[in-house]
Amino acid sequence: MLTLEKMQGNWALVTGASSGIGAEFCQQFAKLGINLVMVSRNAEKINALSARLEAINKIKTIVISVDLSDPMSADKIYQEVERRNVRIRMLINNAALCYAGQFDGETNEFYSKMINVNCLTPIVLSKCLLPHLKSFEDSLILNVSSGAAYQPVPYLGIYAASKSFIHMASQALYGELREEGIMVKTFIPAPTNTSIASNKAYSGKLEKVEITVSKALKILENDDPMLMTAKNVWLQKLFVAFLPAKKLIMEAGKMFKPNRN
Ligand SMILES: NC(=O)c1ccc[n+]([C@@H]2O[C@H](COP(=O)([O-])OP(=O)(O)OC[C@H]3O[C@@H](n4cnc5c(N)ncnc54)[C@H](OP(=O)(O)O)[C@@H]3O)[C@@H](O)[C@H]2O)c1
Repeated sequence: MLTLEKMQGNWALVTGASSGIGAEFCQQFAKLGINLVMVSRNAEKINALSARLEAINKIKTIVISVDLSDPMSADKIYQEVERRNVRIRMLINNAALCYAGQFDGETNEFYSKMINVNCLTPIVLSKCLLPHLKSFEDSLILNVSSGAAYQPVPYLGIYAASKSFIHMASQALYGELREEGIMVKTFIPAPTNTSIASNKAYSGKLEKVEITVSKALKILENDDPMLMTAKNVWLQKLFVAFLPAKKLIMEAGKMFKPNRN
């Protein structure tokens, strides 16, 4: 059985470690004595956080500055982890790019990057690290998804669809890898006060990032493919099941339409 207690002295790899939920996972893991591989583009930020966490918590860290939209980025991370001779026991696929607005308001290049960061790289990285994860009696892949995964969301459409992809892939992999001791979970956080949330034109209440992550860690050990800390997803699922598609889409569109009055 997966327990956080057993993870002390082991290595977790967290993508998107420079800010928001990823940085908070790093801080809370560090307090539990878990060593960290911290990945994001912003080398300055992850270096500063790594130095702080090492000084306070007596853990080891490795910083990898890489652009996860590069299709080869997962291989680069894997090579670096191998070169440093560490074995990853927990993989937190957290990094994401988000765009909220009219479909033609972003470039094709941006959409390609978003799909690579949110969908392609977490899968390839999980696959690269399987030999590491399988070498433990229990290990974890946590894929950070979203409540947006449950339905089409106009003006947030490609991000929401990318979250559906990782949400579904994660649950399928739970079914395949559980017997090998690898717990694969899809994490649906409540709307949280980070830079992604501020981009999303979301007008509801935002949870503090410390609360979001501590709630997640409290239920992380459960043998369950879903790690749900968002509230009212049951209501959203009910709407998806019973509302006609047109009604569902138009109502979601009203919530996310830019400059709505
Ligand atoms: N906040 C919410 O309300 C909410 C709700 C549901 C789900 N989520 C999910 O939570 C996760 C974390 O997001 P957040 O809310 O904490 O937002 P955030 O503060 O903007 O964090 C996003 C992280 O992703 C990294 N990232 C983005 N593009 C990257 C790239 N090309 N290469 C490497 N790293 C990249 C960023 O680092 P660099 O910029 O340094 O590269 C940053 O560390 C995401 O998967 C998001 O979809 C958030």
